[in-house]
Parts: sequence; structure tokens; C-alpha cells
Amino acid sequence: MRTAIVTGASRGIGRACAITLAAQRFAVVVNYAGSADEAAQVVREIESAGGKALAVQADVASATAVARLFDGAEAAFDGIDVVVSSAGVMTNGPIAEVADDEFDRVIGINLRGTFNVFRETARRVRDDGRLIGLSSTTLALNAPGYGLYNATKGAVEGIVRVAAKELGGRGITVNAVAPGPVETGLFLDGKSEADVQRMAGMAPQKRLGRPDDIAGVVAFLASPQAAWVNGQVVRANGGIA
Ligand SMILES: NC(=O)c1ccc[n+]([C@@H]2O[C@H](COP(=O)([O-])OP(=O)(O)OC[C@H]3O[C@@H](n4cnc5c(N)ncnc54)[C@H](OP(=O)(O)O)[C@@H]3O)[C@@H](O)[C@H]2O)c1
Repeated sequence: MRTAIVTGASRGIGRACAITLAAQRFAVVVNYAGSADEAAQVVREIESAGGKALAVQADVASATAVARLFDGAEAAFDGIDVVVSSAGVMTNGPIAEVADDEFDRVIGINLRGTFNVFRETARRVRDDGRLIGLSSTTLALNAPGYGLYNATKGAVEGIVRVAAKELGGRGITVNAVAPGPVETGLFLDGKSEADVQRMAGMAPQKRLGRPDDIAGVVAFLASPQAAWVNGQVVRANGGIA
């Protein structure tokens, strides 16, 4: 059985990726940082549909914790074939007002966390494996307030392209998905209803993305059919940019 690790799989896009990959017969490691109950619920949902899953707590900002996450996956299943690096946090505010501790927190999770996961994947993923990072359509929009967040997502796209060349010789592909606004806590928390509606209205379909809209793209990139897609950033945003 092939194995997938999905970071940040207790909620949102990661959760949808975990459930979608499990439906495609991957044994799935459901990573989370603090939401143990939600992660256990994702595991139950996968198991009740006949799949295999394991919840593993690990803060992606810690290299040691990420190594432990991969150890757990290898111990429970027999190797690692797909890694989805979805764990991330959003921050919003003018560059002039970003505090140092907020900078460290967001860089720690979105950038160092991504790097930790990519490094461990490069060391351990089996031949013909798949690594999928999460960027954002905010990089195309360049809206005020997204300076720090976009800096971390620009880094995701940067490392994807290099990792694709470093690992491609073993049949491994490395790509990113760049969603537009998706109805998860990350997007909705702290926004007024008017702001949510305004951003939903940016898409031709006049709606927000749903986690399954993104999980479908991730699942395609994880599939054998996507073997010739490598080093790419796929925008999944309904057509807003
Ligand atoms: N939603 C959007 O509109 C949107 C658009 C573009 C890109 N994205 C990107 O898509 C990814 C997923 O976003 P989402 O909307 O699904 O967010 P979400 O609903 O807020 O879920 C975030 C997930 O990341 C986990 N997480 C947070 N910090 C972590 C850490 N230090 N270590 C391990 N896991 C951690 C959370 O686990 P706990 O609950 O256990 O903390 C949770 O499972 C992010 O990289 C985000 O930047 C989202």
C-alpha cells in the first residue's frame, strides 16, 4: 500500500487532501500541531470508509518534530510515497506594522516548516514519489497587507522548482498548488462578512473555493498520471488570477 503524509491535516485543505488520498487507497499520516481531537476525527472518518490512517502530532517548525513525523510514518507503514506540505498560517497587515514575533511565528511555520518537510522528504521519499507544497494565489494579487504571507509563499514556489530538479532523477515530482480564497478557518477567521463576500465575488463563479476543489488538484499531482508535471505551480482559484 502506498503511503502519504499530509501536514496540517486536522482541518481545512490538508484534511480534504488526507480524505481524498485515503479514498485513492493511500495509507495516510494525518499530521497536526494542536488539534488532536480534529485529527482523530479525520482518522476515524478514513477508517470508517475502509481506509488506513494514523494521526501524528508534530510542529512543522521543528526539524526534530518533522523527523519524528517521518519516523512515525515509516514505522506504521512501510515507506513514504507522497508528501503534501499543507500546514500553514495566515497573517495580514501592512509591512510597516509587522512585529518581530509575528514575523518569527509566520516564517517559522510557513517557511522553516516547509523547508523542514521538503528536506525530510528529499531524504526519505521512495522513488517515483510525489511532493506537493501549498503556495497561494495571493502571490498573483499582490494586495496590500499580504507582505509577510507572500514572502513565505514566494519561498514555497522557489524551493519547489529547485527540489523538482534535485529529485526528478528518481522519478519524483515536486509541484505546488496555489489556491485562491478557500472557505477554511485560515481564510475566514477575522474577516467581516462583507470582506468574505467581496472576495467570493472575485471568482467568475461568485463563490469561495472549497477544500475539495484543492484536494482534487493535489490528488491529481500525486497520481501516476501527473508523472510529467514537475516543478510547476498550479493555480486553483476558479479563474481570479
Ligand atoms: N484557505 C485559503 O484561502 C488558502 C489560500 C491559499 C493557500 N492556502 C494555504 O493552504 C494551506 C492550508 O490552509 P488551510 O486554509 O487549510 O488552513 P486551516 O484550515 O487554518 O488549517 C491549517 C492546518 O495547518 C495545521 N498547522 C498550523 N500550524 C502548524 C504547525 N506549526 N505544525 C503542523 N501543523 C500546523 C493546523 O493544525 P492544528 O489545528 O493542529 O494547529 C491545521 O490542520 C496553508 O499552507 C495555506 O497558506 C490557503
